[in-house]
Formats: sequence, C-alpha cells, structure tokens
Amino acid sequence: MLLGATGGARTSVLDIGGGGANAYHHARASARVADLRWTVVERPAVCEAMRRCGVAAEVEFLPSVPPGPFDIVFFGSSLQYFEDWRTALRGAAEASAGFVLLEDVPLVRSPSFVAEQRYFEGVIPVWFLNHEELLGVAAEAALHLVAWDRYRAGILGRWSGFPMDNYPPEMRVGLPSSLLFRVSL
Ligand SMILES: C[S@@+](CC[C@H](N)C(=O)[O-])C[C@H]1O[C@@H](n2cnc3c(N)ncnc32)[C@H](O)[C@@H]1O
Repeated sequence: MLLGATGGARTSVLDIGGGGANAYHHARASARVADLRWTVVERPAVCEAMRRCGVAAEVEFLPSVPPGPFDIVFFGSSLQYFEDWRTALRGAAEASAGFVLLEDVPLVRSPSFVAEQRYFEGVIPVWFLNHEELLGVAAEAALHLVAWDRYRAGILGRWSGFPMDNYPPEMRVGLPSSLLFRVSL
C-alpha cells in the first residue's frame, strides 16, 4: 500500500538492516510498482554474501546509508539491533524524502533498556525502547507520526507477544509496534 502511495514513476526503498532482502520479495509479490529501486543496508559480511547470491538487478546491498533521497526508508525488525539506534533513526530521516517505516519495534513504558536475545547458540543485544523517547528522537529529526499499530506476526502460528512475565509490568512489551512517519517538509 505504501509503495503505491509514493506517487512518482520510480519508487526507491532503503531497507536498513534488511538481511537477505526478505521484505523486497514480499513487496514485489504484493505491490504493482513498475520501476522499483531497493537498497539494503547491512553488515559487510551480509552484503558480500548477498551480492554473491544475486537477488535481483533492482536490489543492491551496501554497508552504510548512501546519500538519498529515498521515497521510503524502512527498518523491518532491525532498529532495535542497532547499538546507536538514535543515530540510525536520524540517518534514516535524513535519507528519506517521503516516509520512514519502523516495523516490529519492541516498545516499553519503562526507560529504554538492552537485554540479551538468545538465538540458537548466540546472544544478541537488543534494545527495548521507551515509546516517548522514540517519538522524541523522531520528532527532533522532523518525522511526523501518521500511523501506529501493533505488529502481529505469527511464528509457527503461535505468537502472542514477548514472553516477559519475569519483568516488571512497565518493562514488558506485549505485542511489538509498527510506526509510520512522514518526513516534515
Ligand atoms: C532481525 S534481523 C531483520 C532482517 C530483515 N529486516 C527481516 O525482517 O528479515 C535484524 C537485521 O539487522 C541487521 N543489523 C543489525 N545491526 C546492524 C548494523 N549496525 N548495520 C547494518 N545492519 C545491521 C542484522 O544484520 C540483521 O540482518
């Protein structure tokens, strides 16, 4: 829907922390966009691996945010993995001439904190963001909130939020959020 709302003949998307460009495949399968340019910003090793795989001619992988502007700048389950998420969000705002979309963000009422995500054998630090702090950083970066909803993704058909009963209530996420911002002109 957002891809169709950008207006121009060509639509450019900057997918920050885009992994193997999963979102690109979903977008291509669900939206009619004749001329699409999709740029993924990822860790150098991921960029290298994906360049070798060769996703599609309209998709490129870069290790840092290139000069924009892009119509849509997107973080899909990724902002919370950036050590300096504030700088990452400001960079996204600067690179966008249209929208910034944050999908699947764990928001809390307590002050922002970092916890360990155990993933197979590894441990990944992940931010849990205070929603007012996130909106404050966005507002300072001239991002205007236009939509906010809960993110509902099923994992094997069973996903009802983060299992955080061992945390105080104000530190529990429940369902994560998706937020759509428009760049203020
Ligand atoms: C949970 S994955 C989400 C991947 C993809 N957006 C998706 O939904 O399939 C988080 C991604 O953020 C990337 N990431 C984390 N920190 C990063 C950084 N500083 N620079 C680039 N990518 C980063 C990771 O490499 C990882 O692919």
